[in-house]
Amino acid sequence: MEKQKVNVSMAVIRRLPKYHRYLSELVEKGVTRISSKEFGRGLGLNASQVRQDLNCFGGFGQQGYGYNVKELRDEIADILGIHRENNAIIVGAGNLGQAIANYSGFRGSGFELKGLFDLNPRLVGIRIGTVNIMDIDEMEDFIKKENINVGIICTPKEAAQETAERLVNSGIKAIWNFAPTILNVPDDVIVENVHLNESLRVLAYLIKEREVQNGI
Ligand code: NAI
Repeated sequence: MEKQKVNVSMAVIRRLPKYHRYLSELVEKGVTRISSKEFGRGLGLNASQVRQDLNCFGGFGQQGYGYNVKELRDEIADILGIHRENNAIIVGAGNLGQAIANYSGFRGSGFELKGLFDLNPRLVGIRIGTVNIMDIDEMEDFIKKENINVGIICTPKEAAQETAERLVNSGIKAIWNFAPTILNVPDDVIVENVHLNESLRVLAYLIKEREVQNGI
C-alpha cells in the first residue's frame, strides 16, 4: 500500500533517518513494540511530534498498542528509499573523497559505491575501501556502463561546477555535494549539500548559548 503523501515537509523528512536509526537499534535489542511516548522520549522529542510526523504518511500506530517496531522501521526505510539500490561514484579522491570511500554505511542507506575518480595520475590504481581510484577521463563511460545515478563531489571548490556539469551531461540526476559552493544545475537534478562547518557553527552557537545560560 502506498502511504506516502506528496507534500511532506523537509523538516519531517530530515527527522525520518533518526527514527529509522533508533528503530533499527530497538529491533536489534529485540523490542517488538513501542508507544509514541517512549519513542519520543528515546529521541528527545515529544510524543505528539512523533505522532504528527508519522501521520503525514497515513499513520502506522494502533490506539492502545503503540507501534510495531519492525514494521515501522521497514515502512520508514521504504519511504526513505533505503531499500532501493542507488549506484554512486565519488569525484575527487583526496582527503575527503578517500574518507568517504572508506565509509561503510553506504549500503545500509540504499547506496552502493561503485567508483572513485581523480585527475591526479599518481592516485590512479590505489585501492580505497572497496574501489580503485580511476582516471577522471574514464568517468563518463563508467557512468553509462555501470548505471550510475548518484555523483559525490569531493573536488576543490574551483572544480566543482565543471564536475557537476560532466556528471549531469552523463545523465546523473542526483549529486551529494561536499564542495563549499552552490552548484548551478538543471531543475530536475537533486543536489544535497553537506557542510560540516555549518554543523560546527551551530555547535559553537549552542556552546555559547549554554555559557550565557550558566552565567559563564
Ligand atoms: P584534497 O585536495 O585532499 O582533494 C581534492 C582532490 O580532488 C585531489 O585529489 C585532486 O587531484 C582532485 N581533483 C581536483 N580537480 C579535479 C577534477 N576536476 N576532477 C577530478 N578530481 C579532481 O581536498 P579535500 O580536503 O579532500 O577536500 C575536497 C573538497 O571537499 C574541497 O572542496 C573541500 O573544501 C571540501 N570539504 C568539504 C567538507 C564538508 O564538510 N562539506 C569537509 C572537508 C572538505
